[in-house]
Amino acid sequence: MTIVFSNDLDKLLYKCFFNPRGENSMRLDKIKNGLKTDFIGREIYYFKEVTSTNDQARRLALKGISEGTIVIAEKQRRGRGRRGKRWLSPKGGIWLSVILKPQIRPFNAFKLTFVTAVAVAKAIKKMFKLDAQIKWPNDILVQGKKICGILTEVDTTGNCIHFIIIGIGINANVGMHLFPKHLQYNVTSLKRELKEDIDRAAFVKVLLTTFERYYKLFLRSGFETILNEWLALNCVLGKYIEVLSSEGTYQGKAVNIDKNGALMVKLDDGTIKKVVSESIILKRLNK
Ligand code: BTN
Repeated sequence: MTIVFSNDLDKLLYKCFFNPRGENSMRLDKIKNGLKTDFIGREIYYFKEVTSTNDQARRLALKGISEGTIVIAEKQRRGRGRRGKRWLSPKGGIWLSVILKPQIRPFNAFKLTFVTAVAVAKAIKKMFKLDAQIKWPNDILVQGKKICGILTEVDTTGNCIHFIIIGIGINANVGMHLFPKHLQYNVTSLKRELKEDIDRAAFVKVLLTTFERYYKLFLRSGFETILNEWLALNCVLGKYIEVLSSEGTYQGKAVNIDKNGALMVKLDDGTIKKVVSESIILKRLNK
């Protein structure tokens, strides 16, 4: 058999299908066998190492790959978080990106972060019976510590979405010693919470199935249905928070979420501020 590589990406893809199923590698066949989704995870591109699965997914999407295709890597060299932050992605985690092509306006793309957060929290609860909660807008916490982050990136022209990449990073079998000291208090992993390694492939299967269910629900019934699920899982409303905005920080009480997913914060003087893209910190003290 002769294989002709048209470019580096094809070489990489070839490699990924010939991934040896080493002891600590994710078992692709285990994800695929019995996966009951219609389109999410029907195509899986697996890499031992990438810069970022979101970058790889973007390259595939630009080549016209079908909706629902996912990219998974054992390790990311330059994993990205929100607001240009680095995302630590050592071996043992679940670093994956999903390619979506919804027919929605770019303004609504942010709502998919909520769809994803609900799916991840529900999948963790279902599989591990852990009390996973959502911290607005894109963090999943267990015991008040971050276990998963979501990065939604959109490719648009004008008012038209070509594709959306949903990046999901889950600290699965990641030892705490791998995180820098200053993060160890705020971060956790499934391994740490469960005191044993998890079966990542089995969990990815549950995650993809749950994700497809909520994505379809969003397309069929709209954002309000998702928001109701989100409200039941959130750990922010009613809490005193600090908002880190480009103009500085301010504090207030998170009182509501609007129909587009913006967080409504009541300042001490009674003013209500709308928080859309800023980061927030939960304060211990509740006023
Ligand atoms: C955040 O909390 O700031 C978002 C973190 C998102 C990390 C995931 S890991 C898979 C995908 N690839 C990336 O480079 N980032 C996302």
